Amino acid sequence: MKEANIPISPIPNSAGSTPTKKELSKITSSTLAPKTETPLKSTITSTKIQKEVEPIKEEEVNEVLKKEKTSTEPPAEKKRFKLDDFVIMQTLGTGSFGRVHLVKHKETGKYYAMKVLVKRQIIESKQVEHTINEKKILESLNHPYMVNLVGSFKDNRNLYIVLEYVCGGELFSYLRQCKRLPNHVARFYAAQVVLAFEHLHSNDIIYRDLKPENLLIDKNGNIKITDFGFAKHVPDVTWTLCGTPDYLAPEIIQSKGYGKAVDWYALGVLIYEMLAGFPPFYDEDQMRLYERILEGRLRWPSYFDPAAKDLIKRLLSPDLTKRYGNLKSGSADIKKHKWFSEIDWKKLAEVKVKAPYIPPFTSEGDASNFDSYPEDHDPYGLPGPDLYSEEFKVSFFFLF
Ligand SMILES: Nc1ncnc2c1ncn2[C@@H]1O[C@H](COP(=O)(O)OP(=O)(O)O)[C@@H](O)[C@H]1O
Ligand SMILES: [Mg+2]
Repeated sequence: MKEANIPISPIPNSAGSTPTKKELSKITSSTLAPKTETPLKSTITSTKIQKEVEPIKEEEVNEVLKKEKTSTEPPAEKKRFKLDDFVIMQTLGTGSFGRVHLVKHKETGKYYAMKVLVKRQIIESKQVEHTINEKKILESLNHPYMVNLVGSFKDNRNLYIVLEYVCGGELFSYLRQCKRLPNHVARFYAAQVVLAFEHLHSNDIIYRDLKPENLLIDKNGNIKITDFGFAKHVPDVTWTLCGTPDYLAPEIIQSKGYGKAVDWYALGVLIYEMLAGFPPFYDEDQMRLYERILEGRLRWPSYFDPAAKDLIKRLLSPDLTKRYGNLKSGSADIKKHKWFSEIDWKKLAEVKVKAPYIPPFTSEGDASNFDSYPEDHDPYGLPGPDLYSEEFKVSFFFLF
């Protein structure tokens, strides 16, 4: 890989600073990229892109269902709720097909995060399959560094996914607040992501949307990965163009079949972004961003730890036969790398490592670590016809 060892400062945006939440969420909330066969088209303007129009594959759903049956997890934990069981509170985050609210369970007084997905929007953007994947995958998972599904339900207009509430806010906000993270803090978060990905990949699931917005910090300072909207059960290869531009591996941009290695590439981008405060190929112009990803020419701020540089280079290798995580020993190469030498992987897997940062919070339902959003959504739970019952009949009859 070509590289330049020149000291650089954060690449400024139009306002002369690194990208802010406001700026990025503006792009995110704009319409999704039109379906296109050519991923390099300049019309792809959203932060998050997707292109998957294939109908639901019955075998895939069956595969997950089969897994579920053999799962050792007690199914009773995943409750069947209804909207009226909750007091809907403020919005914690907005996404492509709805928003996530802080909610309070009336009976127990417990707080949860509730992702509301608007059926109409899911259908219009052809995301039915992704939504099924999201819910089924969440249901099949149980890992300390991923959000836990508590339950799900649907009504005439929406699908609702109830998750444990992770009160420390997004890593995105913490990172922008700090500008960049010290080596040991970035290492701590990256190591937790490694364990989570190891678990996902061992279940043949690719995550496909690693970025600081999807990493939450829990009250003990540990990472919880959220947003399984692009996660997919992929035993070998897939071709869907989806993800977030800055985090796309070259093989995705080139419309090649790709596999789990894209997640390890994204980990390289994440480590770089945590240490630098901006992603490695950042460019306001999305076409130029893709060109830069394909060129793979890395520029290093002067303060970068040489061990971090070495690991990032190995994770960002466009050559899949050289990319760490994708070699014979799999994730072991990453875990044994010298940048991670201070990590006690066993203790970390047991969630026994003290976190470097504990987010401030006053009470269980405190949402002050999240940004504020206008509460301008349509009311939930209104009576009315279920216009999309047909579309969701087969797939959601037994799923929600
Ligand atoms: N379990 C949770 N606890 C607290 N906040 C959450 C949780 N899940 C999601 N959020 C917030 O909602 C935002 C959007 O949720 P996400 O699942 O990422 O939706 P999208 O697929 O639209 O990006 C997240 O970036 C985060 O700020
Ligand atoms: Mg998200």
